[in-house]
Amino acid sequence: MRIGIVGLLRGLYMAEWARRIGIDVVAVCDRDSARLAAAHTDFPAARVTQDWTELLDADLDGVLLANDFDAHAPLAIAFLDRGVHVLSETAACVTEEEGRRLIDAAERSTATYSFAENYVAHPHVRLLRHAVDAGEVGPLELVEADYLHSLSPEETAELIGDPAHWRGRIAPTAYCTHSVSPVLALTGAWPVEVSAFPVGANESRPAAMVMTIRLSDGTLALTRHGFLAGEVDSHWSWVSVRGAHGLAESVRATGEHAWSIRVRQEGWAQPDGQTRVTRRSPGPYLVDGEPIDRMAEGTVAILEAFRATVERGAPPLVPVRAAVAASLVGVAGADSLAKGSQPVSVPDVSAKSE
Ligand SMILES: NC(=O)c1ccc[n+]([C@@H]2O[C@H](COP(=O)([O-])OP(=O)(O)OC[C@H]3O[C@@H](n4cnc5c(N)ncnc54)[C@H](O)[C@@H]3O)[C@@H](O)[C@H]2O)c1
Repeated sequence: MRIGIVGLLRGLYMAEWARRIGIDVVAVCDRDSARLAAAHTDFPAARVTQDWTELLDADLDGVLLANDFDAHAPLAIAFLDRGVHVLSETAACVTEEEGRRLIDAAERSTATYSFAENYVAHPHVRLLRHAVDAGEVGPLELVEADYLHSLSPEETAELIGDPAHWRGRIAPTAYCTHSVSPVLALTGAWPVEVSAFPVGANESRPAAMVMTIRLSDGTLALTRHGFLAGEVDSHWSWVSVRGAHGLAESVRATGEHAWSIRVRQEGWAQPDGQTRVTRRSPGPYLVDGEPIDRMAEGTVAILEAFRATVERGAPPLVPVRAAVAASLVGVAGADSLAKGSQPVSVPDVSAKSE
């Protein structure tokens, strides 16, 4: 399978994993010449270009889009229209209209669209999905998901303080995709309404957000993302699922333990009346027979799923409508923020809505 990559920071990391699992990285693109040169050193046989439109005719099976967060959709649509499969970093779109054009492009294309949402495939989320799918906690009622970084004020300002960079120009609600996508994957539901609340003293540019999201199956979701002090030195993601009969949640811990989950099943919901509390750790994720770094597992899983989609027609791990729905939570959240945290409807982009 031959792929090209646009955007060479996150994109280069993914290129290295793609090569390790046997995907051919045949073209690399970045408008930044230093990043392009570094990628060329790493991938000397790959075609190099600063102009992504050159990749449209580069005989690619697939393209990985890791360019600016708020600029993925136009490229995705162009590649889909050329029959090139797309694996796109988060976000999928920045407006409802753009999201609907992306869905149309994916559905009329001979190729497919996959969202590069590695947080859906991280080890703790895989364990939680298993518990939910097995009915261990009963019908879902409340799901919480965090994507938080503990950085100093100086480090935070360095990361999001430049309005010329996408990290500085996107709405404070926009980067909710790593918390909302696991919520959508665990529930299988669609976002209906969102209220967004700023956290911290800087009201014009809050460093962290809390959002409440009503889902189509009645479940309430509470998500937090951004920069908050006190996070354990883990992988930035914590997810908790409460059902009518119990709870499953990732353990707030450091190192390897951070990928474990705790499951509590209430005694009154069990035939034998016994409360059950278990702790589960993920098994190793093997590449070439060797366990890989836990933090890379989600990334490798989405690359392997992309290959299965392109080569064997497997359904995308996170398909276009779920990608657009997660992104539109951030768009509606920005609207809510501007309206003093009033609830705002999230456009229904489920297939059922048509
Ligand atoms: N899933 C994850 O865990 C994860 C982690 C990091 C970043 N990301 C995502 O990856 C994307 C990129 O993030 P980043 O941290 O690498 O950002 P970045 O700004 O450091 O890198 C983006 C690169 O894309 C290049 N670029 C932008 N527009 C281009 C264009 N039109 N043509 C050619 N090159 C172009 C830029 O020059 C830059 O080198 C974002 O969507 C981000 O959300 C995801």
